[in-house]
Amino acid sequence: MLSVEDLRKGFGSGRRRLEVLKGINLKVEKGELVSLMGPSGCGKSTLLNIIGGLLEADSGRISLENFDYGTKSPNKVVDVRRNGVGWIFQDFHLVERLSALDNVAFSLELSGMSAKEAEDRAWTALERVGLGDRMEFIPDQLSGGQQQRVAVARAISGSRPLILADEPTGNLDVKSGEEILDLFQDLCKNDGISVLMVTHDPVLASRADRMLLLKDGVTAASDIRSAWGIEELES
Ligand SMILES: Nc1ncnc2c1ncn2[C@@H]1O[C@H](COP(=O)(O)OP(=O)(O)OP(=O)(O)O)[C@@H](O)[C@H]1O
Ligand SMILES: [Mg+2]
Repeated sequence: MLSVEDLRKGFGSGRRRLEVLKGINLKVEKGELVSLMGPSGCGKSTLLNIIGGLLEADSGRISLENFDYGTKSPNKVVDVRRNGVGWIFQDFHLVERLSALDNVAFSLELSGMSAKEAEDRAWTALERVGLGDRMEFIPDQLSGGQQQRVAVARAISGSRPLILADEPTGNLDVKSGEEILDLFQDLCKNDGISVLMVTHDPVLASRADRMLLLKDGVTAASDIRSAWGIEELES
């Protein structure tokens, strides 16, 4: 489904040059929930931005279904952003003055869908995330967990195969965070959507099918012990 091969990315030049990603290799299968952990500043968001077609890598290759990119500049990968990936952010990124329904429909209309079809799809997506009775509420009238579910509805409404979630539970209480994880598991298992999720929370990370640790510019398979830093404590 998603395959990342020897991806490299640095910022700046000369003595200020900072190599962030030093040869990332990873795969995410259809319907798989993968969590990505790692120290602050190690490059998790940078990696997601490249996979999401918002930033180009210096070298390496990404294939996502039929899309081949990685080093292509963001203006050459409009299709990836439109049809390949859906985004979920820590701070929801909803439009304050629009209802839940219009928040989801609006992003579909931006991608060129007719108003009627966008509304139908938005309706279905909001039902799917359990917000059938909150369609007309604006973000202020929703709890944090509900706002994040609107964002999930927006991410899945365009039938995109991959969801990139950058600390999706960072602004949520424990219970709402657990509920977002429940929803991710459900979407992966029953809708065949794949989710790549960055989190700093080892408990939530361990609920994924697989955990990856990004450290010193490369990813490695991880387990709950290394996620908690137990190995480092012992060594
Ligand atoms: N556009 C940029 N220009 C220069 N440096 C950048 C740029 N974007 C990111 N960096 C640097 O790359 C490194 C990785 O940043 P990134 O945001 O990917 O880290 P992160 O793992 O997501 O951290 P956090 O857990 O704090 O969100 C940091 O040192 C950051 O300062
Ligand atoms: Mg980040």
